[in-house]
Amino acid sequence: MAYKDLRDWLAEAEKIKQLKRISGAEWDLEMGAITELIYHEGQGTPPAILFDDIPGYPKGFQTLFGATCSPERMALTMGFPSSIKTGLDLVKTYRNEIKKIKPIPPRFVDDGPILENVDRGDAVDVLKFPVPKMHELDGGRYIGTACLIITRDPDEDWVNFGAYRVMVHDEKRVAFYISPGKHGNLQRQKYFERNEPCPVAVCVGQDPLLFLASGNEVAYGLSEYDFAGGFKGEPIEVVKGEYTGIPIPAHAEIVLEGEAVPGDLQKEGPFGEWTGYYASSARPEPVIQVKNVYYRNDPILCCARPGRPPSDYSFSKCVVKSGMIWDELEKAGIPNVKGVWCHEAGGGRMFNIVSIRQSYPGHARQAAMVTSQCHAGAYLGRYVIVVDEDIDPSNSFDVLWAVASRSEPAESIEIIRRCWSGPLDPRIPVGKKGFNSRAIIDACRPYEWKDEFFPVVESSPELRSATLEKWRDTIFGRD
Ligand SMILES: Cc1cc2nc3c(=O)[nH]c(=O)nc-3n(C[C@H](O)[C@H](O)[C@H](O)COP(=O)(O)O)c2cc1C
Repeated sequence: MAYKDLRDWLAEAEKIKQLKRISGAEWDLEMGAITELIYHEGQGTPPAILFDDIPGYPKGFQTLFGATCSPERMALTMGFPSSIKTGLDLVKTYRNEIKKIKPIPPRFVDDGPILENVDRGDAVDVLKFPVPKMHELDGGRYIGTACLIITRDPDEDWVNFGAYRVMVHDEKRVAFYISPGKHGNLQRQKYFERNEPCPVAVCVGQDPLLFLASGNEVAYGLSEYDFAGGFKGEPIEVVKGEYTGIPIPAHAEIVLEGEAVPGDLQKEGPFGEWTGYYASSARPEPVIQVKNVYYRNDPILCCARPGRPPSDYSFSKCVVKSGMIWDELEKAGIPNVKGVWCHEAGGGRMFNIVSIRQSYPGHARQAAMVTSQCHAGAYLGRYVIVVDEDIDPSNSFDVLWAVASRSEPAESIEIIRRCWSGPLDPRIPVGKKGFNSRAIIDACRPYEWKDEFFPVVESSPELRSATLEKWRDTIFGRD
């Protein structure tokens, strides 16, 4: 890897012109709106955005948005060749790498940059950092978005982390929202069922690779620390949290440490969500009583701004999810998968496409069912489309052409009911959230007569290249 921590990573991102510095933006709505404008209306690949000189905060107390959201920055983060320029090539590389990776547990060290400053007890003030209020209808300021909520399973002694949103209530209290079924929720539930406080560390500035591990579905029982260490090829260095004993990344920027006490709930939300709506609105959620705050000098708060896609993290989410689903398809024994793409419009969850070389009767349905229910694809999925190998799953036009021309609605669509959804599902009314259904669309040529299916009307590769050779300048001009 070309970097050790977020600071090195920023230097590398700047070298490849993937970082934009903005000075003087307000925490109250401005950083959010600027990020939205850059990601919705900017030209070319959107950069990572580093905000400094935030009014009301010391110079050097910065926020970073959109760290991983471009092919170039994904390649940098994951240690892939910089020549990779498309989402699908990233997915293919990810899938090849993941097959070779062996998890590496974290290594405890006695010291690290995160211990440069420690505020304890009365000195704790989570608002000493420029925590943004992202959108106008948000219920408050969110310190945890591109974050790691680190918990330890009380029975199985493994450490999980996930990106679960964290809303500030006051200097020492934050509420966190974890959807039912997520690993952090399962672990927290175990403490609460015994009426015990759940120890928790909230890391809100870190190596972008840790964020990728945090925000995507690593298998139950496998610590994201081990997963990320395996990816890096070396252990993640951690220090022991003073209050909880939980491992904290030694090179992190900012970490809050404390506990969630059973029954201590406070309103969380509304917060703009990745689906593009405020579907989970506001509800009472567990509060973390913050006991210690650790931070580096000139700390950088990492942020992600969910909202109507594309967002400042949706591209990276789609790449990792696609790679994970492909990996799970292979592990489930589905052969001849040629590509997987989770479309950004579906936030990496609701509109997923798999291309296969159809090899036996039922192959397409099998691939679709597994895609819709494997761990990486199950939560809040909605549509799965299976296409033949001549269709690039990341090319929306090709995918829609395959659906339009190769599927027969009466035969090609299956519905699976009572699947894993949750409060963020905008299509389920408040009070009824929990389950949703899935549509599987088999947009492959019908297996029984695929070899006799009508020829595609397009020039042969030979005719194309001969024509190009002769007519290139006339068609495309000299450059
Ligand atoms: C920026 C971002 C914000 C997220 N916010 C939440 C959230 O507030 N609650 C939640 O349950 N999942 C959220 N997720 C999804 C989880 O992080 C993801 O499902 C992850 O796999 C959960 O970890 P787990 O598999 O260990 O449960 C978010 C993901 C990202 C990338």
